[in-house]
Amino acid sequence: MNVITDIKVSPQLAGGELWFKDAIIYQLHVKAFADSNNDGIGDFAGLTEKLDYLHDLGVTTLWLLPFYPSPGRDDGYDISDYRRINPDFGTMQDFRRFMQEAKRRNLRVITELVINHTSDEHSWFKRARRSKPGSDARNWYVWSDTDQRYLDTRVIFKDTEKSNWTWDQSANAFYWHRFFSHQPDLNYDNPRVFRAIVQVMKKWLDLGVDGFRLDAIPYLIERDGTNNENLPETHAIIRRIRAELDAYRSDKVLLAEANQWPEDVSDYFGNGDECHMAYHFPLMPRIYMAIAQEDRFPISDILRQTPDIPNNCQWALFLRNHDELTLEMVTDEERDYMYRVYATDPHARINLGIRRRLAPLLANSRRKIELLNTLLFSMPGTPIIYYGDEIGMGDNFYLGDRNGCRTPMQWSSDRNAGFSRANPQQLYLPITIDPEYHYEAVNVENHQKNLSSLLWWMRRVIAMRKNFKAFSRGSLEFLYPDNAKVLAFLRRYEKETIVVVVNLSRFAQSVELDLSRFAGCVPMEVFSRNLFRPIKKSPYVITLGPHAYYWFALQAQTNGRRVSKKHVLPTINAPAELHTLLDDGRRAQLEQAILPNYIQTCRWFGSKARTLRDLKVVEQPAVSSETNAARFWFVVVSYVDGPTETYALPVKIASGNAARAVSRSAPHAIIARLAGAEETILYDAVWDAEFRSQLFEAIVQRQIMKGRAGDLVGVPGKAMAADSSVALGKSQVLGGEQSNSSMLFDNKFFLKLYRKLEDGVNPDVEITRFLTERANFSNVPAFAGALEYRHEKSEPTVVCLLQARP
Ligand code: NOJ
Ligand code: CA
Repeated sequence: MNVITDIKVSPQLAGGELWFKDAIIYQLHVKAFADSNNDGIGDFAGLTEKLDYLHDLGVTTLWLLPFYPSPGRDDGYDISDYRRINPDFGTMQDFRRFMQEAKRRNLRVITELVINHTSDEHSWFKRARRSKPGSDARNWYVWSDTDQRYLDTRVIFKDTEKSNWTWDQSANAFYWHRFFSHQPDLNYDNPRVFRAIVQVMKKWLDLGVDGFRLDAIPYLIERDGTNNENLPETHAIIRRIRAELDAYRSDKVLLAEANQWPEDVSDYFGNGDECHMAYHFPLMPRIYMAIAQEDRFPISDILRQTPDIPNNCQWALFLRNHDELTLEMVTDEERDYMYRVYATDPHARINLGIRRRLAPLLANSRRKIELLNTLLFSMPGTPIIYYGDEIGMGDNFYLGDRNGCRTPMQWSSDRNAGFSRANPQQLYLPITIDPEYHYEAVNVENHQKNLSSLLWWMRRVIAMRKNFKAFSRGSLEFLYPDNAKVLAFLRRYEKETIVVVVNLSRFAQSVELDLSRFAGCVPMEVFSRNLFRPIKKSPYVITLGPHAYYWFALQAQTNGRRVSKKHVLPTINAPAELHTLLDDGRRAQLEQAILPNYIQTCRWFGSKARTLRDLKVVEQPAVSSETNAARFWFVVVSYVDGPTETYALPVKIASGNAARAVSRSAPHAIIARLAGAEETILYDAVWDAEFRSQLFEAIVQRQIMKGRAGDLVGVPGKAMAADSSVALGKSQVLGGEQSNSSMLFDNKFFLKLYRKLEDGVNPDVEITRFLTERANFSNVPAFAGALEYRHEKSEPTVVCLLQARP
């Protein structure tokens, strides 16, 4: 089990300036996420309600697609006003509240800065087309009397546009546009344009956003005789934007959308003075090629060609996004291959790409989906998850443009997939009802219920990725085993070394890795924490099932063994008072560090293989009114990969001789030391004779121990209730502690303390009680009583069962 210490840090401090390197980004469109006012369109208020979902998923940063006023002919990338919120998505107040709630959960927010073009409905363009040729207002855009200029420039949206020039009647001239004809390109040769865009950027910084995705930045400047992409003048503009950003706020990032070849994309990092991040466009399609060809070459080759980038920069990795899976950065043969494999239906093709989501691209194969995500989370860069892909949502390519991948998020099997209560015909796009991906099956609620679902797997893999800095910051080194169907590489950072091994094939594979330089180390498979056999000088042999993957953390052999055995006692700086022990900062120390480590060493803690999310002590009733009486802690443990559990942990403080006696007889029962001159310990009270007697008495004498949300109540059996003279005698803890703890009183009574508490009927208790009190069956230990936790509105929970020997 891994303890994820969820230390609350202010977002400004988390990760420092390089926070984006450790980020896990979740990309979403506000309109597609959740509709709070039931008009069929998602909005900021709806998104705010879903922040807990995103926080629980483990993502750290949200990237919001454009949410500004827009005619909506390019899904909001055609902006008509940079400074306001599209009224369909809410008000500025809704946005502020969203930002506040996101920050409260330590979620950062990246928004869109679409600087290449505006909508033709933007007031800047309306003014430009009315203004005199050559005037400053006119020159906010790029005009020409002929459409024969810049003929070496490719057309990007080749399915809809024939030329990058469109005739404007009122201006009596052509205007330049690299995308749709309703999206005129801004003219960065006009200094006013630059200043206006910087003002826009500052406005959103003032509103608290953490960074900007710079849309379509290779095309900012045009020059005769060039292809108008990646020009030095364009880089100069980006450097100036970066300088303005840094001068205005620290800690903020620029993410470059530059769909270019590796050398050209990496130019957008500059010398660490342009963008902090850039999408690795060339890598993405090659991940799909590698799995289709069952060969690692496409991946290792493109990463080999990828230049090193400045230290303060990071790649942004993705499998899918809101656009088509672009095939611009592959060769013609590679593109044909991709179409043949991934877009057999011509409807799936658009421009130079494939408009499908992750799950349909992978034929809904869970193994392949896991494998691709494993690569996403282990290759160098910051991973980006496209909304809905965490539950394997389907698509609908009949919807036109790229809308098939932009349908509403599927929350439940209710009307409109729980996205909205509007009339289904009113939704901005229909919900997916393809039989294989129908929202009644593919939705968050169903995935939450099923611990084997993709959603739970995603939570686990995200949590695991966050445990190792080697993934987010480490170096990359490929291993080239003979078997080319296996991709293997090292990620290393400071003392961490992770070996990633992935089987790209649909059949089982065996592979020999040269790990000789790590001879003596032990690979720990990180999800199970199982130790594999130690590495020797000879080749390390691994077998992998179809599309299987491993993340191994290498541990020095001696350490690996020692760490798992030796339990170093922590010290709490607190007075020896049990009733104040959970006050103030000590609670955090106990809940975040001491107890997670302690329960891990207990036989009765059955979830050692799970990844712990959170631990809380929710009850602490005292067994008597004496000042330092033992207390019953109810410890609620929640996991990244399993349902929440509650454990009973009676605790007590002992000093001096009493403490030394526990150290000798039951060292494993000691939870922590308390600072001070005299030896003082916090330990499991089961090992205290006085506590055991108190338990017994509490049951037979119907005592009540007051808790916060409920009470512990003693319930004697009929015979015990009738005979108040029972002497309890000497007690002992029965050895061989299992999932519960058992105590024996004077050889006459058994007392069983249930460690994992379950609500409702306890079959053990019900049966013994029935046999004793109804059936008068005397061949089993008789029911003598129970200790129950009673709380409002639910069945009592049995904490102890007392039985008398026959
Ligand atoms: C890039 C965006 O990702 C895409 O959705 C859009 O169509 C183009 N920019 C043009 O605005
Ligand atoms: Ca709405």
